[in-house]
Amino acid sequence: MNLQLLFWAASLVNLAVLCGVALFGVRYARRGEIARHRHAMKISSWLVVAFLGAYLLKVGVIGREDQSVWSNLDVWVLRIHELFVLFMIGGGAVAWIQGRKLALTQIVTHDPSDPTPDAKIVLTHRVAGRTAVISSVFALVLAIGIFAGMVARG
Ligand code: HEM
Repeated sequence: MNLQLLFWAASLVNLAVLCGVALFGVRYARRGEIARHRHAMKISSWLVVAFLGAYLLKVGVIGREDQSVWSNLDVWVLRIHELFVLFMIGGGAVAWIQGRKLALTQIVTHDPSDPTPDAKIVLTHRVAGRTAVISSVFALVLAIGIFAGMVARG
């Protein structure tokens, strides 16, 4: 296996793990286990940051892929995958910012003397969070296709 393939195999595992952890995070939120929800989303976010760091390092050390030998379809699948990655990062960032605003409210502390959360913030958080998690799953499905193409080209 060449170095590029090894890097993308590790990245695929990273993306699969972060999707799995985020899906557990959604389950925790639905059960009202917000401390666990927050913890799971923190781990997923760090896995995104780790990938971005590793990707920059990879581009610097072994360079970019030679897309001139890719089929048109493969290039399109890559572009759509990248779009989902952008939605994942954007949605995740908005969910973090809005989630922090919920941290000291009843919905998280379960203390009736704490303020009730602003319904708009709860909704924005939920929509942004769902956008991020759903995008990560689509990004993973497309990444499997992209990786299969790389393996086939050798
Ligand atoms: C600062 C950290 C966070 C806190 C305190 C927090 C808190 C919460 C709370 C209280 C809910 C329940 C709201 C409701 O009643 O619907 C919730 C739901 C949700 N959160 Fe977070 N959250 C955090 C970070 C994140 C992040 C980073 C993401 C995604 C990347 C995320 C994704 C979601 C999703 C998808 C739901 C909706 C689950 C569902 O009902 O389908 N959260 N969060």
